[in-house]
Amino acid sequence: MAGGIYTHEDIKYFLSLGADAVQMGTRFLVTEESSATREYKEAVVKARKDDIIIAGTPGSPCGLPFRVLKHSPMYRDALEKGRPPRCDKGYVLFRDDKGRFTRCLAKESNESHFCICNGLLSSAGYNPDEEKPLYTVGSNAYRVDRIMTVSELMDELKGVKKPVESVA
Ligand SMILES: Cc1cc2nc3c(=O)[nH]c(=O)nc-3n(C[C@H](O)[C@H](O)[C@H](O)COP(=O)(O)O)c2cc1C
Repeated sequence: MAGGIYTHEDIKYFLSLGADAVQMGTRFLVTEESSATREYKEAVVKARKDDIIIAGTPGSPCGLPFRVLKHSPMYRDALEKGRPPRCDKGYVLFRDDKGRFTRCLAKESNESHFCICNGLLSSAGYNPDEEKPLYTVGSNAYRVDRIMTVSELMDELKGVKKPVESVA
C-alpha cells in the first residue's frame, strides 16, 4: 500500500486490511540520511497544505498527475516558460513516427511540460547550479515539521515509546 501513509497507526491499519507491506516516500525524504538537498527538505518542513498541488499544465512529460510543492523552482520556471526545451538525459522516451524511442514532450516544447529528469536530479543535489529543482511530495507533506534521522523515524513508525525522563 502506498500514498500518504504517515503514522504507525496508518501502517497498522493497512496491514490489518491485508496489505503485505507499505511503501513510504515523503517521510523518508525528510530525513538526515536522505539524498534530497537541504533546501528540498526545508521546503517540505515549511510547506502548508495549500502549497501542495497536482501539476497539470505544466505537468509531467510522462502524462501522469504529479504532486509538487507549488514553489518548486523548476515548476515556477515552467509556468513562466523560462527554460528552453532541451534534454541531456533521455530517461523519459516515447516512440517517434518511425517507432524509435526518441521523443520526450518536455524536450519538444516548454508549453505544457517541465523537465522531470533534470528537475528531480537537481532536487537530489545533482547539477543544482545548472538546473532548477522540482520538489515532489506526497499528499501529507504539510504534516512534516522537522528533519529527523531514519533511526528516530523508524522508532516512531514502529510505535516505540520513548522512556519518560525522570526529573530529579
Ligand atoms: C522523494 C520521492 C521520490 C519518488 N520517486 C518516485 C519514483 O521514482 N517513481 C514513482 O513512480 N513515484 C515516485 N514517487 C512518488 C511516490 O511513489 C508517491 O508519491 C507515493 O505514492 C506517495 O507516498 P508518500 O505519501 O509516502 O510520499 C516519489 C515520491 C517522493 C516523495
